[in-house]
Amino acid sequence: MNQIEKVRDYYGKVLQTKNDLKTTACCTAESMPPHLARLTKNIASEIQDKFYGCGAPFPDQLQGLTVLDLGCGTGRDVYLLSQLVGENGQVIGIDMTDEQLEVANRHIEPQMKTFGFSKPNVKFVKGYIEDLESAGLANESVDLVVSNCVINLSPDKERVFREIFRVLKPGGELYFSDVYCDRRLPKHCQEDPVLLGECLGGALYIEDFRRMLHKVGCKDFRQINSSQIDITSIEVANKVSGAQFYSITARAFKLPLEDRCEDYGQVAYYKGTLDNHPTYFALDDHHLFEKGRPMLVCSNTAMMVQDTRLAPHFEIIGDTSTHYGLFDCSGDPTSPTSGEAVCTPGGGCC
Ligand SMILES: C[S@@+](CC[C@H](N)C(=O)[O-])C[C@H]1O[C@@H](n2cnc3c(N)ncnc32)[C@H](O)[C@@H]1O
Repeated sequence: MNQIEKVRDYYGKVLQTKNDLKTTACCTAESMPPHLARLTKNIASEIQDKFYGCGAPFPDQLQGLTVLDLGCGTGRDVYLLSQLVGENGQVIGIDMTDEQLEVANRHIEPQMKTFGFSKPNVKFVKGYIEDLESAGLANESVDLVVSNCVINLSPDKERVFREIFRVLKPGGELYFSDVYCDRRLPKHCQEDPVLLGECLGGALYIEDFRRMLHKVGCKDFRQINSSQIDITSIEVANKVSGAQFYSITARAFKLPLEDRCEDYGQVAYYKGTLDNHPTYFALDDHHLFEKGRPMLVCSNTAMMVQDTRLAPHFEIIGDTSTHYGLFDCSGDPTSPTSGEAVCTPGGGCC
């Protein structure tokens, strides 16, 4: 069996519910904010029982957007996003496994009824995340791409990222949760069907993820959160020897960003207008914008809040006409005008 066949077999035949998983790599406990936890209660228990995600890839302010979920499985995240984009938005779920899609499709009608929608705003398409063109996705047709514990399973991850940035509109966003490793795993681990199926064998070395995004033209991605995965099975622990695994949620915008943070003296103000964030908004794990508080930002951060759907919620003072050199990332984040916090490893910023 090749990698695609092994993965399809695992999700189509081996696993029936999340109780069949042998590790906690899928279904790591990332707490859902209350406004999202409330929406999951509207989703059928059969779908919830077959949820194999590792994070919560749900950014803010999604009303009316077109969203694509790569490797949607039985559709837990599609149905949650369906409620977030509302009746005027659309969510497309892509998956290659018939058994997963059968469950997802069977629930369209009852779920729409539960949400009170007069017509479906979701659709499930059989296809490969490496070839979104064959799945009918045109260039620059999607506002947001999400994915939950899937890209690690792909034998050609670079092609997946190329496809994502092809289908995203300018200023659009990739926001996804996946499993990463602190090293490049040996071939026998990458080919092991259980390690692969459990989202460990195909986990990218985090530095290779950064390099891959850079190669496809995305020079600055931002980490939202990271949690270490417990390897509770002795058998699995022995197979991976000392490797450490992390579930990471990251965001990357389709913008002409630079590979380093550059200082143009720009200042950003958050207006406090994003839903559920009246007093502060976290763009990533080291940019916490307080309402009305001036924050010095690098030109990449300025672009992320100025040239995307976040624009109505920010005021940026300054432009890129005068350059002051490399952005100083060593400032104290609690000081009003100090700029950005020390960057954590993993994120592209600074
Ligand atoms: C770990 S499950 C996650 C499913 C879903 N995102 C969730 O959170 O429940 C991985 C899913 O990705 C699908 N998948 C894996 N590789 C794929 C590929 N190359 N193309 C399309 N789907 C893929 C599998 O069929 C499976 O449904």
